[in-house]
Amino acid sequence: MHPTLNIAVKAARRAGSLINRASLAGGFEVKTKQANDFVTEVDKAAEAEIIRVIRSAYPEHAILAEESGESDGAAKNDTVWIIDPIDGTTNFIHGFPQYCISIAVRQRGQLAHAVVFDPAKNELYTASKGRGAFLNERRIRVTRCALLREALIGTGFPFKELGRLDLYMKQLRKMMAGTAGVRRAGSAALDLAYVAAGRLDGFWEMGLSKWDMAAGALLIKEAGGLVGGLTGEDDWFESGDIVAGTPKVFAQLIDTLR
Ligand code: IPD
Repeated sequence: MHPTLNIAVKAARRAGSLINRASLAGGFEVKTKQANDFVTEVDKAAEAEIIRVIRSAYPEHAILAEESGESDGAAKNDTVWIIDPIDGTTNFIHGFPQYCISIAVRQRGQLAHAVVFDPAKNELYTASKGRGAFLNERRIRVTRCALLREALIGTGFPFKELGRLDLYMKQLRKMMAGTAGVRRAGSAALDLAYVAAGRLDGFWEMGLSKWDMAAGALLIKEAGGLVGGLTGEDDWFESGDIVAGTPKVFAQLIDTLR
């Protein structure tokens, strides 16, 4: 395993232990960031633990993290760690076991390493650019699904920013009519990992943050899938609107969303 990926795995596992302990103990403090957008003391403690592990190995690297933001000079640094300590915080708060730690490393504008760790199921997804994607050290690939009407598609609702709800409802209607099923599980990073692992054939969501998408996107690319924006362009990282899937499902998702 690449040494940088090794550090990412160590950080994710440390955070995972902390999250599992907190989940068993319960009674943690929950704050509202904005309507339907929550943070717990566990998110903050897990993020601090991840950053501690990264900083002790790579003090010179920049960090972009959901709860603490961007470290100084991140825009000019060649290497940026992109961290979501709990993707799926609402699920975590409710004890709905579908959440994960997402850590990606971006080097000179390219995604280089990715870890998504589901601590409730002890499932560790890893990828390094050009070296394939793995689930608990076993190689994973996207499915061979070639027809959208046979595809199981993941999605996320626009629950914070309701301005594009009408557009989303049109998209959802098309997907419900044109696929084998639509799932909204509540953790975008884990949904993307599921596409990489062949549990879903495709995924789309609008208005995501970089830390929700970065690691999952590299997992999908390394598992043989495609990732793009709503029109299929490579603008998803900046726009936050993401479409992903097996190569054939991806193309049909783009056509349908258009
Ligand atoms: C959220 C989850 C959810 C997605 C939201 C994200 P968070 O991340 O990924 O599935 O629909 O858009 O914000 O806030 O729990 O880290």
